[in-house]
Amino acid sequence: MSDPWARLRAERTRQYSAPLDMTPRPPSASRTEISTVMQIAQANNDGNVHGGSIMRLVDEAAGIAAMRHSHRRVVTASMDDMSFLAPVYIGDLVTVRAMVNDAHRTSMEVGVRVDVENVASEEWRYVASAHLVFVALDLDGRPTTVPPIAAVTDDERRRQERARIRREQRLVRKRALNDAAKGKRREPA
Ligand SMILES: CC(C)(COP(=O)(O)OP(=O)(O)OC[C@H]1O[C@@H](n2cnc3c(N)ncnc32)[C@H](O)[C@@H]1OP(=O)(O)O)[C@@H](O)C(=O)NCCC(=O)NCCS
Repeated sequence: MSDPWARLRAERTRQYSAPLDMTPRPPSASRTEISTVMQIAQANNDGNVHGGSIMRLVDEAAGIAAMRHSHRRVVTASMDDMSFLAPVYIGDLVTVRAMVNDAHRTSMEVGVRVDVENVASEEWRYVASAHLVFVALDLDGRPTTVPPIAAVTDDERRRQERARIRREQRLVRKRALNDAAKGKRREPA
């Protein structure tokens, strides 16, 4: 039996095998926006949208931003600082905006902001935000290098600086947890 997806897979393999231009890219090149109306299946019986439904959209938008930056397929490595600031209801028009804040060797931090738009009043309500780390993968599923970020605007420089602080904190936490798992937890001085 013929494989209907073979041509598609071959085309993706060709695309992802192409040499990567490692010229630094501005965060704006990864800018991603998804708008969608919240449906009954995404909410509880009181009409409140599940946090998990918002997290799925956040992951999707952030993943697209990471792919736009890296020109590679990517996986979610972590999601942190996920904050829900206001409820979202069935019928709300939700917009999720994502952009790569900073890039390292193979990983990228993506900042995401979620708003609800009232189309009648044209008012926007800030409802959630998060930071996610994505890792670019080669065709064998191994982490692969990504281009650096070239912050251009003051806002981009501020986001990059904060992303570096968060990365440092993630690494410190990871090392401490690894040490603790090996039974050699360091006591604070
Ligand atoms: C993410 C993953 C590829 C990292 O693999 P690994 O063997 O730990 O790779 P490395 O140690 O070489 O780390 C690669 C990069 O990932 C980063 N990383 C790894 N785990 C991380 C985590 N939990 N949080 C943030 N960054 C992480 C490292 O800091 C490193 O970044 P750098 O190259 O920019 O310095 C691997 O853990 C994985 O495949 N996880 C599952 C991802 C997935 O399936 N996501 C969808 C869930 S349904």
